[in-house]
Amino acid sequence: MSSQDRQPTGPDFASGFDLAALREGQSVAGYVQGKLVLLARSGGRVFAIGGKCTHYGGPLAKGLIVGETVRCPWHHACFNLRTGEALRAPALNPVDCWNVEQRGDKVYVTGKAATAPKPRTREPSKKIIIVGAGAAGNAAAEMLRREGFAGSVTMIGADPSIPYDRPNISKDYLAGTAPEDWIPLRSRDFYAQQEIDLVLGVRAKAIDLKRKQLLLENEATHSYDSLLLATGADPVRLKIPGSDLPHVQTLRTLADSQAIIARAKEGRRAVVMGASFIGLEVAASLRARNVSVDVVAPDSVPMERVLGRELGEFVRRLHEEHGVTFHLGQAARAIDEAKVTLADGSSIDADFVVVGIGVRPSIALAEQAGLAIDNGVLVDEFLQTSAPDVFAAGDIARWPDPHSGERIRVEHWVVAERQGQTAARNTLGFRELFSQVPFFWSAHYDVTINYVGHATRWDRAEIHGSLEARDCRVDYIAGGKVRAVATIGRDRESLEAEVEMERVHSSAIS
Ligand SMILES: Cc1cc2nc3c(=O)[nH]c(=O)nc-3n(C[C@H](O)[C@H](O)[C@H](O)COP(=O)(O)OP(=O)(O)OC[C@H]3O[C@@H](n4cnc5c(N)ncnc54)[C@H](O)[C@@H]3O)c2cc1C
Ligand code: FES
Repeated sequence: MSSQDRQPTGPDFASGFDLAALREGQSVAGYVQGKLVLLARSGGRVFAIGGKCTHYGGPLAKGLIVGETVRCPWHHACFNLRTGEALRAPALNPVDCWNVEQRGDKVYVTGKAATAPKPRTREPSKKIIIVGAGAAGNAAAEMLRREGFAGSVTMIGADPSIPYDRPNISKDYLAGTAPEDWIPLRSRDFYAQQEIDLVLGVRAKAIDLKRKQLLLENEATHSYDSLLLATGADPVRLKIPGSDLPHVQTLRTLADSQAIIARAKEGRRAVVMGASFIGLEVAASLRARNVSVDVVAPDSVPMERVLGRELGEFVRRLHEEHGVTFHLGQAARAIDEAKVTLADGSSIDADFVVVGIGVRPSIALAEQAGLAIDNGVLVDEFLQTSAPDVFAAGDIARWPDPHSGERIRVEHWVVAERQGQTAARNTLGFRELFSQVPFFWSAHYDVTINYVGHATRWDRAEIHGSLEARDCRVDYIAGGKVRAVATIGRDRESLEAEVEMERVHSSAIS
């Protein structure tokens, strides 16, 4: 996604900035040569880097300085203050890095620092294959090149589209407020220039672990030295009469989103089955297109299992304020061309239906290969599967999470990308632990919920601030420990909670 630079305001760092005004661990936004720049002080040193996150343009000055890094307030990307490198997804590109000089009691940003990519010298004869061209697969392919891998990288994807911003297809793109060119993560030229071979529109069907070969559905065979499985998840389908009618959609791919948009242009009434994150994001986007929306779900409170009752009730009210009608505690019995019939015999008129009742990890390939599976592909802390040289990342991977002390599998964009990056490094022998605190966000109208940590159950959910004022933090506490934190309008607190969870963990294992 790109956005135009507005004329930056604030101090002109080229004319000098008073060092005393920049305290340790703090940052300030200003500009140099018309560009937004972040000046930050850490460990007694002053750094200057681009002030806008390369993911969706989040203001880094509202983020958090942690050591020699800054974390973005919006979706927790992390940049190196020394080099500008995007250390943690969802940002994939670096920010500019600027030279700083101290003269007397002032610092001056003197010009852009030169940066060069790592030379490609590592393991030139090695072949790495990535199955799945989504969040994890794409991030992995990019990371291999970023780390100077010189061998061959092939990314095989069943979806014919080049890797794209999946979270956006239920949000701005579906609402009609994101242009088409925001959606691909990269251009085709990028992959060509990075020498990443894209084999799209074809499914991998079998792995021969002994021969180290991958067989595709078109009967092509690829041999590999290391294999990364990043096959994501498939939407759960409804199994009621009429659920296979053409006006009943699920939403996982760009093509699904385009099909819903086409329906929304003709139809005026939609029924969304399921009060999940995706179902409710679809509801919000359809309301932006002035489509009337009824949500049918068996739950008594939307998203209660993840967010708890109070926050779930808030989300329901938010949607109701925007004209959504809920039918909670209800299941659908049948769908026909013009209506959905509920279990209690009542019916709702519908020109089209969107089913968002959850996903299942796409583990068919891993199962066929005989990899260890248990609600996902089992991986160790290095994201390696039960087979040597086969790694797994993203929605399919169930890993030992050091923060919850449990083996978990999540369906979060940022986690998938970061696991892709770690797995990529580990195919190169880095032995990097995957120990990052899980993070996701979900957007409904003008409200974004950020969530760090992982809590499947809790003794109490403590609310700080006001849900109605959209300024709050909810701590999910189990066994006296904060397992997860959800925030609305408190981005810095979300970052602080993430750092605190990292700290508690590192003190627990030291
Ligand atoms: C509409 C929508 C909105 C979302 N919004 C958010 C959000 O706001 N925040 C958030 O944190 N998360 C969000 N998510 C979840 C997030 O997108 C996923 O967690 C993430 O995409 C998982 O990445 P992945 O690489 O594991 O899988 P994917 O991104 O799904 O990629 C997997 C790829 O593998 C391909 N594939 C599968 N099987 C094979 C095979 N046998 N051979 C070849 N290719 C294969 C698939 O075609 C797919 O392209 C959203 C998901 C959806 C569907
Ligand atoms: S805008 Fe910075 S992480 Fe998304």
